Amino acid sequence: MGQYDRHVFVCTSGDTCPTQADVERYVKVLRDSARAAGKQTDVRINKSGCFNQCGHGPMIVVYPENVWYAGVKESDLEEIVTSHIVGGRPVERLRYEPGVKGSNKIETNEAVALEQGIHDGSVLTCLEHLWQFDVRTGAPLGDAEVGLKGYRLKEERGELYVELHG
Ligand code: FES
Repeated sequence: MGQYDRHVFVCTSGDTCPTQADVERYVKVLRDSARAAGKQTDVRINKSGCFNQCGHGPMIVVYPENVWYAGVKESDLEEIVTSHIVGGRPVERLRYEPGVKGSNKIETNEAVALEQGIHDGSVLTCLEHLWQFDVRTGAPLGDAEVGLKGYRLKEERGELYVELHG
């Protein structure tokens, strides 16, 4: 017999789950809720590293049943505690069953658009690789390996025109 009846892991430190919700708070809510149900000594709730299912989160796993939950919202936590952690009945609507074993990350090749970068009026920082550029000339600064191509702008009667060829 193990030390706990159930062991719950919340992915709190991978690339995506922590960006999809306040998963640190999920741990607190689950612990508070398990304690309120009198399960503080029977159930262990831990923060976990990435489950390699990135993009499907926020992710929670409950053992010994080996039940995986995906896309968990904060409003689902109470049901996970009441139904599964206390009652032993997994919450079927939240079950993660991708049909493939092992790693199952959603690969995103989405680049971060330069326009989402930050600039202070003189230096533009791209958030993709943190390369920096002179915002007036496009010249590379610091680690940037190439510069930006510049285009002439023309203002006429309040309209801004970009000269694409020239
Ligand atoms: S970040 Fe949660 S599974 Fe990878």
